[in-house]
Amino acid sequence: MLTLAERVNNCVMHPHNGRPLPLDSREMVAFLSYLKWINGATGGRAHFKGEKNLEVQFPSVAADPQRGRQLYAANCARCHGADGEGIMRGDKSTYAYPPLWGPNSYQPGSSMHRIIKEAQWLKANMPYDKATWEKPFLTDAEALDLAAFINDDRQHSRPTVKNFDYPNIGEKSIDYDRGPFVDHFSEQQHKFGPYNDIIAEWRKKGMRPVW
Ligand code: HEC
Repeated sequence: MLTLAERVNNCVMHPHNGRPLPLDSREMVAFLSYLKWINGATGGRAHFKGEKNLEVQFPSVAADPQRGRQLYAANCARCHGADGEGIMRGDKSTYAYPPLWGPNSYQPGSSMHRIIKEAQWLKANMPYDKATWEKPFLTDAEALDLAAFINDDRQHSRPTVKNFDYPNIGEKSIDYDRGPFVDHFSEQQHKFGPYNDIIAEWRKKGMRPVW
């Protein structure tokens, strides 16, 4: 059990690589006020940017970083930069458009770094000016291919983390890309799919796969 302020600090530290804020700091109060305001402003009903992910259907083939690269150039580079570097605000205080890989991007091991999780989020939210929760822009396969391209560590680097441990590997998300796993599937397949075989095997063994 955590307080909301502690949960905010979890995200500051991981995926965002920052130092935790004092719980009574001005910045923390601002975060908590904003979250409270979002709930009030939407009456707890309407959909808003950045909220709950959408489900995606898994194709029978692995997600394809090469197709993702083309989709990225056509739909994403204008805000996130040709090399994923993002765009700073004019006053350099922070990013107007966040970097998607490189030294200031989210960490490996974070939810955004998982391909299914990121695809679900992309479907509901990106491109920022075109997608809404009610009316996604990307198809499921496109969202998965884009997430595969962005999160392909063979071509993109990120800040490093020391600890990839999962307290209980039976609860490890199936698209987490670091072993050990409770099954025999490779890290490559866990990362890029196809996921349906993994899900089927877990269910056959009476385990509950999560992603
Ligand atoms: C019109 C500008 C714009 C376009 C085009 C756009 N984005 Fe974004 N993107 C944003 C903004 C703004 C944010 C930050 C949203 C926020 O923090 O609420 C963001 C956030 C993200 C994040 C989260 C980064 C993080 O650190 O959590 C990802 C991933 C992402 N975009 C991927 C994409 C992909 C993939 C595309 C193309 C399909 C795309 N974006 C197109 C503006 C854009």
